[in-house]
Amino acid sequence: MRRSRRLWCPASISCRKSASCGCPMSVHRYRPQVIVDCGRVVVENVPTGVEDFQMELEEARKLMEKSLGNRNLRRHCLAVSAVMGALARRLGGDEQTWRLAGMLHDLDYEQTKNEPRRHGLLTADELRKRGVNAAVVDAVLAHNHHKEAETAMEKAIVCADAVTGLVVAAALIRPEKKLSALTPEFVAKKMREPSFARGADRDKIAYHDRLDLSKEEFLQISVDAMKAISDDLGL
Ligand SMILES: [Fe+2]
Repeated sequence: MRRSRRLWCPASISCRKSASCGCPMSVHRYRPQVIVDCGRVVVENVPTGVEDFQMELEEARKLMEKSLGNRNLRRHCLAVSAVMGALARRLGGDEQTWRLAGMLHDLDYEQTKNEPRRHGLLTADELRKRGVNAAVVDAVLAHNHHKEAETAMEKAIVCADAVTGLVVAAALIRPEKKLSALTPEFVAKKMREPSFARGADRDKIAYHDRLDLSKEEFLQISVDAMKAISDDLGL
């Protein structure tokens, strides 16, 4: 079997393509292609021990759908992935990586519903076992505050996770119950009502500030990203 993988260099190793590598976190990422032949990893000119597996998005979606039985939870993960992708494009992050984090962040949600403090920890363990790159694992941990949100992707997943519920709730109170008719201004208006969609944590949504995005722009990006997958979201 042949397939390509991306490589991620750890922060302790200087990226040799720092000016153009497009690292979502810092200057430390580069991604030469690695060809795997019959399980033997062939890597040229790459320091040993720096390989992390970059899961394909479709594979991540299948894993998410296998892990979560509830349709709305699945849709939530699709929505967070879409918002993360849009934020990556706006902020210069690696779109696939950010989307992966969104797709995978809630894998253990149903397993941990009676122990919410463990939410995210089981997912992180599972992803580490699968060799998923550390940036994605850290974003999963950050979204439930198991680690401080330090990188742009970690901050983004906190606000993307929270805003999707608010957007869905706002769409559902419109007469047409569709995302297509929803405006960010309407979402912002409902957001100011503390009793509306209480589960959508305003403090988490406010993480857009840490990305230097205004509330207006963040809501615009989020609404647009979710509209783009409205069929998947059933809205
Ligand atoms: Fe979530």
